[in-house]
Amino acid sequence: MTTTNTPPKTLWLGRWGFVLAATGSAVGLGNIWKFPYITGEFGGGAFVLVYLACILAVGVPIMMAEISFGRRGRGSPIDAIRRVVHESGHGSFWSIFGWMAMLCGFMILSFYVVVAGWSFSYLWKMLSGGLAGNSVDDMAAIFAANNANPFTLGAWSTLVTVLTMFIVGKGVQAGIEKSVSWMMPGMVIMLGVLIGYGAFSGGFADAWSFLFSFNTEGLTSEGLLAALGHAFFTLSLASGAILTYGSYLPEGHSIARTTFSVAIADTVVALMAGLAIFPIIFANGMNPGEGPGLIFMSLPLAFQAMPFGTLFGILFFLMLSMAALTSSISMIEATVAWLTGSKGMTRKQASWGVGIVLWLVSTLAMLSFNIGADWSLAGRNFFGWLDYLTSRWMMPLGGLGMALMAGFLLRNEIFREELGLTRTQHTLWLFMVRYVSPLGIVLIFIDALGLATL
Ligand code: PFF
Ligand code: NA
Repeated sequence: MTTTNTPPKTLWLGRWGFVLAATGSAVGLGNIWKFPYITGEFGGGAFVLVYLACILAVGVPIMMAEISFGRRGRGSPIDAIRRVVHESGHGSFWSIFGWMAMLCGFMILSFYVVVAGWSFSYLWKMLSGGLAGNSVDDMAAIFAANNANPFTLGAWSTLVTVLTMFIVGKGVQAGIEKSVSWMMPGMVIMLGVLIGYGAFSGGFADAWSFLFSFNTEGLTSEGLLAALGHAFFTLSLASGAILTYGSYLPEGHSIARTTFSVAIADTVVALMAGLAIFPIIFANGMNPGEGPGLIFMSLPLAFQAMPFGTLFGILFFLMLSMAALTSSISMIEATVAWLTGSKGMTRKQASWGVGIVLWLVSTLAMLSFNIGADWSLAGRNFFGWLDYLTSRWMMPLGGLGMALMAGFLLRNEIFREELGLTRTQHTLWLFMVRYVSPLGIVLIFIDALGLATL
């Protein structure tokens, strides 16, 4: 029964391979598109604070558990979890969390390619002469026009789907290290430029206090759930990505150190994105709760107004598109690893097969911005449902499962060996996955279900 540590088929190339790939997965549209717009929707400071607390108290300990599952079980989430629970003498039931993670990654990718498509289309707009407009209304009209035609919008999301499956078909290792190692510093520089611009635009003080002044009025149950869900989303947790990447991690690399570097890089980029975007929002009298179009309506205004704006705009959307791709490939790697690892498919067959299904589902998600805008259920269209179900429910639930398995179900030796922490550090980690992370998740669930009022 103990079939652990079957030799891995693929390992990361260099010393930094896993860190770069995991950072590439974590840093993406979640940081630059989603974090600012949901922060705007949920009112700023209080939301940011809860989000940061969730990263530290829930995200980091669970990421350490997830990477351990991957490296110990050496396989797709389903196979890896099954092997690790067998090693502790438990049944295959628990691999249900692997199934859920895989489904979750697929569902996220189905709407993620639409947003990545926006990024590619804005890159194209910038390359072909910038955007004709210099007011908030102009930018809103450009965003609306970009969404209105299902054929052009669909062409962009199709492009992203094809690129994703092409890269995954080749194997995610090839090229990922190189692209992440220039894209990440590049992104930080671009955000630095935008923050610098914002500092002189007159909206910086408002932006700062919006993001960092704690104001409990803004704290709703829905906001708590959104902050928790976003902590999972932004760190790529409970969707198969980090676990599967962890299954390619060689022995002897520190899981804890890796986790902290990924979490820190991810948080820095998100906060920088907030500081880059909100000054523009406030200086132009925009509504921070504008929704998913927020960055596409605000950032181009800055590019229009600043010196070398078109050049910066091109670089920015190029990097955003790259960041989206290094994340999107990680979302589907779990499914492809499962199809190749236990269904005997080749990598090519698996990726193109999955790609076709993905294309169908993502096309439905894309239609939510034009002809399908009103195909809604309980006030959410298809795009909204994919986002809502994954971030608010599936990821926190998957994370809860992971924490409880690591904390209570499995032999502690496994995590002692995988994590290689000192005694005190290990006790602290165990305390987190046993009590702090699960309790945080459960309390927020209870609150969101209206069973209690915090
Ligand atoms: N962490 C990515 C982002 O912030 O854009 C999104 C993501 C990647 C979510 C991979 C889930 C996943 F499995
Ligand atoms: Na992220």
